[in-house]
Amino acid sequence: MSVDRSVTFTGIRFENPFLLSSAPPTESESNITRAFEAGWGGVVTKTIGLHPVVNVYGAKAKFMRTTPDDANVSMKKRPGAALHSSWNWELISDKTLEWWAPRIRRIKEAFPNKVLIASIMAGSGNDKELKHWQELAETAQGEGADGLELNFSCPHMDRRDMGSNIGKDQGLCSVVTEAVKEVAKVPVWCKLTPATADIVVEAAACFRGDRFIEHFSIDSADRSRDARVRDQRRRFGVEWGARRSGDPSSRARQDGIAHEGVSG
Ligand SMILES: Cc1cc2nc3c(=O)[nH]c(=O)nc-3n(C[C@H](O)[C@H](O)[C@H](O)COP(=O)(O)O)c2cc1C
Repeated sequence: MSVDRSVTFTGIRFENPFLLSSAPPTESESNITRAFEAGWGGVVTKTIGLHPVVNVYGAKAKFMRTTPDDANVSMKKRPGAALHSSWNWELISDKTLEWWAPRIRRIKEAFPNKVLIASIMAGSGNDKELKHWQELAETAQGEGADGLELNFSCPHMDRRDMGSNIGKDQGLCSVVTEAVKEVAKVPVWCKLTPATADIVVEAAACFRGDRFIEHFSIDSADRSRDARVRDQRRRFGVEWGARRSGDPSSRARQDGIAHEGVSG
């Protein structure tokens, strides 16, 4: 007897609720293919970026073993030892977008009923980086990805304008989500870091991505808030909104914040 385990999440239908997160098991076409053949309902690709990434050469994972007798933890394989933990210090995918694009297409063509989410990452703080997010999003969805996951969570990026540094900053969460939503035709997920005081704050900022400036104008009246956050919101949020409108000052005027003197 077959049991229906299907679920629908953010409008995407999964044949079962088992989704592999972005990590080494999803770093290649062969790994993703094996995951689907093994029955996983969906896969989030290893995070794809546009900046050059150099990962540690050779075996990236080190497996530590221990025995109940001596509690010694080491990589050495020895009789009676069981797996204790693993180490891995890799960054995001070291494969380029050009490498991923045909593979996303091939995987989706081979497994049309499985869910393939493209994890993407770029920087923040200027229009060039926001355009990188858009390029990644448009390419992945153009090749057939069912959804986009924005990596706001990686804790050990080699750049300060990326990963969990975005996820710890509600202004950046909002602006980046807005930029991606502007081009996205598929559902957008924001992967947040738990390393923040109140994750609800950043989650809410992602939700209101396309209403960012409205919230900026309210929050800017709250002088008790962190000045750095206000400055970033002013610089990145309003500049991005103004660029989208085509008129450097119209979006700010529309939101009644031209007096802040922060248009395009
Ligand atoms: C070796 C390794 C590599 C990872 N690479 C990525 C990545 O490229 N992108 C990403 O969003 N998360 C990455 N993650 C995070 C995982 O997707 C996941 O969120 C994390 O491991 C927590 O889940 P867990 O408790 O089931 O391990 C990585 C995790 C590990 C251990």
